[in-house]
Amino acid sequence: MPAANSFARLPGFRDFAPGDLAVRNHIFAAWRRVARGYGFREYDGPPLEPLGLYVEKSGEEIVGQLYAFRDKGGRDVALRPEMTPTLARMLAERSRGMPKPIRWFSLPQLFRYERSQRGRLREHFQLNVDIVGEAGVAADAEVLAVAIDAVRGLGLDHNDFVARVNDRRLVTAVLDAAGVAAGRHAGCLAVIDKAGRAGPDRTRAGLEALGLSPAAVARLAELLADGSRAHLAELFGDDAAVRGAMRRLDEHRSILEAMGLGPYVRFDFTVVRGLAYYTGIVFELFDRAGRLRAICGGGRYDRLLELVGGEPLPAVGFGMGDVVLGELLRDRALVPDTETSCDVFVVWVGAEQRAPGLELSHRLREAGHSVMYSLRPQGVGKQLRAASRARAGRAVIIGPEEAANGSATVRDLESGRQETRPLASLLDRAEAGR
Ligand code: HAM
Repeated sequence: MPAANSFARLPGFRDFAPGDLAVRNHIFAAWRRVARGYGFREYDGPPLEPLGLYVEKSGEEIVGQLYAFRDKGGRDVALRPEMTPTLARMLAERSRGMPKPIRWFSLPQLFRYERSQRGRLREHFQLNVDIVGEAGVAADAEVLAVAIDAVRGLGLDHNDFVARVNDRRLVTAVLDAAGVAAGRHAGCLAVIDKAGRAGPDRTRAGLEALGLSPAAVARLAELLADGSRAHLAELFGDDAAVRGAMRRLDEHRSILEAMGLGPYVRFDFTVVRGLAYYTGIVFELFDRAGRLRAICGGGRYDRLLELVGGEPLPAVGFGMGDVVLGELLRDRALVPDTETSCDVFVVWVGAEQRAPGLELSHRLREAGHSVMYSLRPQGVGKQLRAASRARAGRAVIIGPEEAANGSATVRDLESGRQETRPLASLLDRAEAGR
């Protein structure tokens, strides 16, 4: 016989008991509200995709984490680890003739075989927001504003989180200006990505290990020791391509400032993003304390649609996970109160009042109220205790006298105040509110 624990939940996967699901739904509701507020339309795709969609398009890290297998028809398939390739595939099939720019959002569940740790699981939900068909920097600013507002919509502000922004074109321009050959750029990106965590010595060693010239190592290590905008301008400001990329970032920032979101945005030269398809401005949202993994990551990817066989459309977007965000909300006591609650608990004193009690309950439900009652015969005291446990706002009590004269006693369970009212008036009022 199998051991009892052989049915334990898989590591990195979550059960959502009602209290947990309420938190998830609370996050989803804010995400949907904010995305719709910016005029985005919701879409979804299949959770299982052809393996080839991710190989090369997503980059090594994600491909190494795929849940992939061969299906019964001999196809190599994978559970989706991210939504962007699905979006690109869907639009490659239907974007021609669609008015541009396309504003779509989605809330997919995604699967990555990661080493489970705080903030990283093997499944998560992600808000994906993308603008397709607009190359201008206003679209980059627009999606970042959605990301910031999606977190603000949950009660967090600039004291809690910050968006770190960079531009892959700026990094490329800096590497060119430092004399790094194009073939070594990918290796440099990986070192730059880790520079914040690795510290100056390991960063320098990483650059040396790539075989860069001592002069290039020295200039890049100096920049990475202080990646501020002012320091960057001082070290590389005489290069036209660097200045052009910085101007674009300045314009991006000024749009967000005009929206009042300036305090949420910070330039950070070490943000380059792991995914292979990014081509322009990139960003990540982090908790200010820097204790957690990224809340969100995104950027511009102007070549992906063409790569999957579609129109060559520019695109920009982000993915925001529910795991780190949920932790932040719990830390800040911003999760909703998830105890059960109903509007009305109907109490009947004896078996004879059951039928009018059920009729009243049903009509109240039809009028849009949430209504509960005891499923087994119980004394009034027990029924009222059940009403408190259900955190009902009101108890509606029907006894022999009330049933005889078509009335009910309505008790406000918070104040304890009660009054006897004709049943018809209860229903009229309930139905009027429908
Ligand atoms: P990503 O940086 O791989 O980007 O993921 C975005 C966010 O998803 C992360 O910042 C994190 O909050 C969450 N996340 C990722 N992996 C996990 C995990 N194993 N457990 C919990 N949360 C996780 C993308 O996926 C891009 N496709 C985003 C994008 C959309 N870019 C353009 N459009």
